[in-house]
Amino acid sequence: MKRRRYVTDVKRLDGKTVLITGGNSGVGKETAVALATRGARIIVACRDPEKARRAVTEIRLQSRSLNVCHMDLDLANLSSVRGFCKDFLQKEKRLDILINCAGMPSVLDWTDDGFSMCFGVNHLGHFLLTNLLLPRLKESAPSRVITLTCSSYKYQKLDFQDLNYNLLPFFTYCRSKLANIYFSQELARLTEGKGVSSFAVHPGFVQSGWTSHYSFLFRMLMQVVMWMFFVSTEIGAQTVVYCAVSDEAAKHNGGYFVDCRPAVLRPFARDEGVAKKLWEASERLVKLA
Ligand SMILES: NC(=O)c1ccc[n+]([C@@H]2O[C@H](COP(=O)([O-])OP(=O)(O)OC[C@H]3O[C@@H](n4cnc5c(N)ncnc54)[C@H](OP(=O)(O)O)[C@@H]3O)[C@@H](O)[C@H]2O)c1
Repeated sequence: MKRRRYVTDVKRLDGKTVLITGGNSGVGKETAVALATRGARIIVACRDPEKARRAVTEIRLQSRSLNVCHMDLDLANLSSVRGFCKDFLQKEKRLDILINCAGMPSVLDWTDDGFSMCFGVNHLGHFLLTNLLLPRLKESAPSRVITLTCSSYKYQKLDFQDLNYNLLPFFTYCRSKLANIYFSQELARLTEGKGVSSFAVHPGFVQSGWTSHYSFLFRMLMQVVMWMFFVSTEIGAQTVVYCAVSDEAAKHNGGYFVDCRPAVLRPFARDEGVAKKLWEASERLVKLA
């Protein structure tokens, strides 16, 4: 069933800086428009400068705000993530809201560092990005980190013997989205009392650009399915915007949100031990220490 709840909170975000990965497309772009309209400074972090420039123009036009720019970031390359963060920390004095929105659907491919594309981009790239930007988030407290996940997390569990699993594409995607949930919860625990809140969001099933990774035939088929069953990007962005602005959301640090309200996760996805283990494994994989 299509979800249709809208954010009712009309809070302005003047003076706040928002960084959105994948802000050139789909849910990320729509979120950028919504938050720029509320007065925030928006930085969209994208891997394709040409797409980014086009998106910035559209976001500026739709939000009637000139306070929108882009920076280059390829989450499939950990050197790019490190370079981006160095640049960001030099240029930007605030980071009030970080939205980890970029994502890859199920594709059998590998990142430049040899990780499965889904796990590398959806989880590890964002893990490193958030950790390197954490000092700025703490300085800008109260700040928020919003990480996009998917309700399909429930179809898989993590295998610590094979975190880099890349066999059945859909399951690879489910695992990466489960990793997003553990990451979001552990971040909330580690930053408890430091003014940084962390939320995981399932945006619903959205008519976005994710089919661009597939063949023409599949894209045509999915156009019909998406038209019938998926929601618009405007509705898909609502829960992200809700977590960015709502005081009610702030009461659920570490929470999982669907359709502009907290939702209940399957018990295995709330396992603190697994979340901690994933955090430590991710630190080793991205060589954070
Ligand atoms: N659409 C749905 O039904 C749905 C359902 C549940 C969860 N989600 C989640 O929602 C989030 C947004 O997805 P969407 O539906 O809006 O899809 P989308 O339109 O395909 O947007 C994905 C964004 O991620 C960016 N991206 C991909 N790989 C990247 C990389 N290596 N470095 C930097 N950016 C990269 C894409 O950039 P390019 O344009 O350059 O490719 C694009 O801007 C994702 O995390 C997704 O898993 C979506």
